[in-house]
Amino acid sequence: MTDLFDFDKPARYAVMGNPIQHSKSPRIHSLFAQQTGQNIEYSAIQVDPGGLEQAIGNFQASGGKGLNITVPFKRTAWELMDELSDRARLAGAVNTILFRGEERFGDNTDGIGLIRDLRDNHGIPLAGRHLLLLGAGGAARGVLAPLLDQRPARLVIANRTPHRAEELAADFRAQGAVHGCGFPALEGKRFHLVINATAASLAGELPPLPDYLLHDDACCYDMMYGAEPTPFLRWAQRHGAGSCIDGLGMLVEQAAESFFLWRDVRPETKPVIEILRSELKQK
Ligand code: ATR
Repeated sequence: MTDLFDFDKPARYAVMGNPIQHSKSPRIHSLFAQQTGQNIEYSAIQVDPGGLEQAIGNFQASGGKGLNITVPFKRTAWELMDELSDRARLAGAVNTILFRGEERFGDNTDGIGLIRDLRDNHGIPLAGRHLLLLGAGGAARGVLAPLLDQRPARLVIANRTPHRAEELAADFRAQGAVHGCGFPALEGKRFHLVINATAASLAGELPPLPDYLLHDDACCYDMMYGAEPTPFLRWAQRHGAGSCIDGLGMLVEQAAESFFLWRDVRPETKPVIEILRSELKQK
C-alpha cells in the first residue's frame, strides 16, 4: 500500500568521506533548504577505506536521492558511476552523485564553485590574465578545465614534484594555454592570480615560492580555509597581494551547484557564506 504521507517525508542526501565529523556540508545544505523551502534531510557519513561502493549502494537502496563525496573518495566515486557529466569526466573525480532510479549520475561542482567565488563574489577577472595554480593533485585537476574555459592568457601549474605538473598540463593542453613546472622555474615570472591547490596549508606549510611572483594588485586564493589566514594567505599579505581570499566561498558555491542539480532550485549563496564566516570566527 502506498504511504499516504510519503510526500511529507524529506528527500535524503548525505556527504561521505573520511574524516567527516568536521564537514560543513550538512550545515550549508540545511541553510539552503531553509532558505528555499525544500524538504530535505542531509547527514554526514564516515566511510572506511575500501568501503565506498558498499556505502553508496546502501544509501541508494534505502531510498537516498543523492550524495556528496569528499576526501579521500572523489576519485573512487568517479570509477563507480554509470554516467558522468563532462566536467566530472575531465576532473577525473566526482563530488556529487544524483540517483536516477538504479542509475548513478556523477558530477563535479568544485571547479564551477571556484569560478563563481572568484568571478561573481569577488569580481576577479580571469580572461586574458596570467594564472598560477600551485599543486598537481586531485584538487588542482578538478579546477583546471573550468579555469581554462575562462580563457586566461596563460595558466602555469607549479608543483613540488615537477613531473606531476608537466603530466597534468599535458592532459589539458587541448583546453588552453597550460604549462607545468617545478617551483624553482617560477623565478622571474609574474602572475595576476595565484591559486593554492596544494595540501600544504593542511600541514601548516607553505610551498617554496619566489619573493617576486605577484603583479601589482594580484589576487591570491587558497582553496583551504580556516578561522585564521592560511600560511599561503599570510605569505600573500606580506608580498603585497591586492586581495587574499580563502576557500570558504568556493565550498558554499560548490554546494549550491550540487543543491541545484538535486533540487532544480538555486539557493542564494551570499547570506550562507556570511553565516559560515561568522560561525568560523566564533570558534
Ligand atoms: P589533493 O587531492 O588534495 O590534491 P593529493 O592528490 O595528495 O591531494 O595532492 C596534494 C598536492 O599538494 C600535491 O600537488 C602535493 O605535491 P606533490 O605532488 O609534490 O606531492 C602538494 N603538497 C602537499 N604538501 C605540500 C607541501 N608541504 N609543499 C608543497 N606542496 C605540497
